[in-house]
Amino acid sequence: MSLTSVIVETTPFEGQKPGTSGLRKKVKVFMEKHYTENFIQCILNVLGDKVKGSTLIVGGDGRYFSKQAINIIIRLASANGVSKLVIGQLGLLSTPAVSSLIRRHNVLGGIVLTASHNPGGIRHDFGIKYNIENGGPAPDYVSDAVYEESKKITSYKTTPKLETDRLIDILGTYNFNVDGRDFVVEVIDSTADYVGLMKQIFDFPKLRTLIRGTEKRPPFNVLIDSMNGVTGVFVRKIFVEELGASPDNNVCRIVPLDNFGEIHPDPNLTYAKDLVDKVKANTSYDFGVAFDGDGDRNMIIGKNAFFVTPSDSLAVLANNLDCIPYFQKNGVHGFARSMPTAAAVDRVAEKLKKEMFEVPTGWKYFGNLMDAGRLSLCGEESFGTGSDHIREKDGIWAVLAWLSVIEHKNMSVEEILKEHWSIYGRNYFTRYDYEECESDAANQMMEHLENLIASPDLIGKTYTAHGKSYKISKVDNFSYVDPIDKSVAKNQGIRVLFEDGSRVIYRLSGTGSSGATIRIYIDSYEKKDVLADAQDMLKPLVRIALDISQLQKFTGLEKPTVIT
Ligand code: G6P
Ligand code: ZN
Repeated sequence: MSLTSVIVETTPFEGQKPGTSGLRKKVKVFMEKHYTENFIQCILNVLGDKVKGSTLIVGGDGRYFSKQAINIIIRLASANGVSKLVIGQLGLLSTPAVSSLIRRHNVLGGIVLTASHNPGGIRHDFGIKYNIENGGPAPDYVSDAVYEESKKITSYKTTPKLETDRLIDILGTYNFNVDGRDFVVEVIDSTADYVGLMKQIFDFPKLRTLIRGTEKRPPFNVLIDSMNGVTGVFVRKIFVEELGASPDNNVCRIVPLDNFGEIHPDPNLTYAKDLVDKVKANTSYDFGVAFDGDGDRNMIIGKNAFFVTPSDSLAVLANNLDCIPYFQKNGVHGFARSMPTAAAVDRVAEKLKKEMFEVPTGWKYFGNLMDAGRLSLCGEESFGTGSDHIREKDGIWAVLAWLSVIEHKNMSVEEILKEHWSIYGRNYFTRYDYEECESDAANQMMEHLENLIASPDLIGKTYTAHGKSYKISKVDNFSYVDPIDKSVAKNQGIRVLFEDGSRVIYRLSGTGSSGATIRIYIDSYEKKDVLADAQDMLKPLVRIALDISQLQKFTGLEKPTVIT
């Protein structure tokens, strides 16, 4: 039966501006009549002629409203001339899996339905993110164009009679005819492609011996926490079925829930406390990891919940990539980190004589460097680690990389870190988050900082707290020129740099859906004194950071909501 598309009149919605990682709003906002349709149509409008005959990947973390959004995408895509949608069964695809599928199938792009680590469920967040043909998040010029479209949209095209009910529940290829053109929906096994990729990158038999143990080595006892997010299906496949982990003792919360079981699926010491407590309580665990809702973030802890900062995780992996088959084969090109990420990896780059890049916050800034063959491994303090195997950060990849290093070195997580610090020194790092502040107050604080850094007397000024003094050597609002396409990203965070190399950085989060979140990042390097407690060590600089920003005065807040 041939179906016919129709044009539906609509009017623009305010604020359809993609943030650091796509458009994120409360579910109720996406549920408003025409809201989701408008945004999808705007993406298709920006893709322009390329849409005709194209294939797109669709999937996400399975959060509430995903299925409704997928139905809307199927109808709009078919009406706009897309030839094929490849959709994860039940709509489930981790963000790294989408990136992998885009690359391996060589398609135009993908639509990822996730608000990443933000809570889900009817009262919480939904999100839509577009990824381009290299598998990475859309660059700013694409997102800006989508936003411009959203301000002037007057209609969208859809195929209202296309029956989508339960279409994505069962694997298979479904053929339609819309306006005389063929239109195909292929529902695929969410994990197959991604598991294949991981098997090419890592030595699975070796990792299996690590987890199962050998005559000479006891099993390496892991606890993998999917926080009720989409990684659950990948964890079952990779760690339980392939690597022999126990479904009872080595994995938890691996059934994806559309509200993540009412938890905040963000792997950090506050929201993944459950994992931390379990690993602390059971000293037979050697390793713990948690992932966020869509599977691109990871938090790694060792025995007794020994915490590995994401900045250190990146540096340790950089130092040990040669034990991973993918890098043995492809070589290691450069390293990169986002600007607020502590500079531990920079020291590894220097020693290994690799190119090192410092980019703004957001994974999209790594893509061009990878495409140009200048970047192999990168990471962010926000619990993101990844490589050029795809164009997203990748939580499961990070765990497999860590397990490879552990297997190779035959050392515990803590021993690996201590050895690393003894060679390179240690970047003590902490991040203070003040979530859901009043937007006005947060903006006023940032304005105050802008004014402050404009004054020339700040350079050379000394601040003292708890008996420690720091002298300011440089201040700026970070801006970045992409070395490949020369695009410029401005106002990426206020930086206060001190003479001894310590840094304080202030930024407003770009991933929230309401209010503002202020982030303060503190990074201080110690060559010798590497075994102290990070919070003790950074106390003076934290005090100074609060004094400079006058955060308490502007926001009235006494304490951060999250400290990592
Ligand atoms: C997402 C992006 C990351 C980025 C993070 C920043 O997770 O994928 O690349 O580091 O957002 O979040 P923020 O809330 O600090 O803007
Ligand atoms: Zn995420």
